[in-house]
Amino acid sequence: MDAPRTVTIGPYRLPSNVVLAPMAGVTDRPFRMLCRRFGAGLAASEMLSADVRLWDTPKSRRRMDHGGEPSPRVVQIAGFDPSMMADAARRNVDAGAQIIDINMGCPAKKVCNRLAGSALLQDEALVAQILHSVVQSVAVPVMLKTRTGWDRDHKNAIRVARIAEDSGIQALAIHGRTRADLYQGDAEHGTVKAVKDSVKIPVFANGDIDSPERARQVLRETGCDGVMIGRAAQGRPWIFDDVNFFLEHGESRAVLALEKVRAIMRAHLEDLYAFYGEETGVRVARKHLSWYFRQHPGQEALRNRLVRIETPDEQLSTLLELFDMGV
Ligand SMILES: Cc1cc2nc3c(=O)[nH]c(=O)nc-3n(C[C@H](O)[C@H](O)[C@H](O)COP(=O)(O)O)c2cc1C
Repeated sequence: MDAPRTVTIGPYRLPSNVVLAPMAGVTDRPFRMLCRRFGAGLAASEMLSADVRLWDTPKSRRRMDHGGEPSPRVVQIAGFDPSMMADAARRNVDAGAQIIDINMGCPAKKVCNRLAGSALLQDEALVAQILHSVVQSVAVPVMLKTRTGWDRDHKNAIRVARIAEDSGIQALAIHGRTRADLYQGDAEHGTVKAVKDSVKIPVFANGDIDSPERARQVLRETGCDGVMIGRAAQGRPWIFDDVNFFLEHGESRAVLALEKVRAIMRAHLEDLYAFYGEETGVRVARKHLSWYFRQHPGQEALRNRLVRIETPDEQLSTLLELFDMGV
């Protein structure tokens, strides 16, 4: 049995050391709130560009919407220019962010072409300037999310972590792959452990944590303060409850009853319609539906019907029909 560790970031003592990873296109406000209800200790927003000229779009406005979200609200920003990053951080704090998370982990082309995300790892002097500039610009804690390095020959996460700590960064999340790895191969947590051993600030291990057992193993192997879960929460937001329970009691939670899953999915869909409006809400819901059903093989025909539906009423009633058939 591993007693859950308490993680404190600035003035915030997290309710759990198991947190949701930021995922563009996934961790919108409804999903963040769902994961928090299931016990995620933190749930960062989808990445927001530090270029404030890009903010006047429905997509960016939604990414900055934190109405009703529990504290501490974390907003992730990505960019390459220290003063733009500082400005973006300040504006988000004014809009309700209580923790700023800096993205130096994303390998996406659109970000890296502009030397942002994990591409920044190539330029440690610039990393230092960005981190320093953001930390100085806001009164709230700043976190950094990054990878183990640029590529396997340039794993500089330890140096970056020390730069971060010296710059006043208050927590780190390390994805156990390099930028060049993209998502290939298995996450490598040896470097994550080395990072944890080299700094005093809290470190979250991230990458391929997809079960309570794996979470415990990574916590034990790395000595990290917490774990960060991304893809495994897609279609399974209750994973946080499963992991918290397992870490606390050393045994597995009972499998969720189908009627509970039905109620969770129904409420999630209704939140999506309310947040995005009907048309976009139905489209976004399709993604989540396919993740939820990934765990229930069979009934392909009905499921295919479900993901083509255009209206909320039909989407919900077909979902409920599926459950009535026992999925
Ligand atoms: C669809 C998707 C979108 C992502 N978007 C972001 C992002 O906006 N910011 C970020 O720092 N990482 C992003 N990531 C990376 C995740 O936060 C995480 O580091 C990665 O998925 C590894 O964790 P996992 O194995 O638990 O999924 C994204 C990952 C996925 C799958």
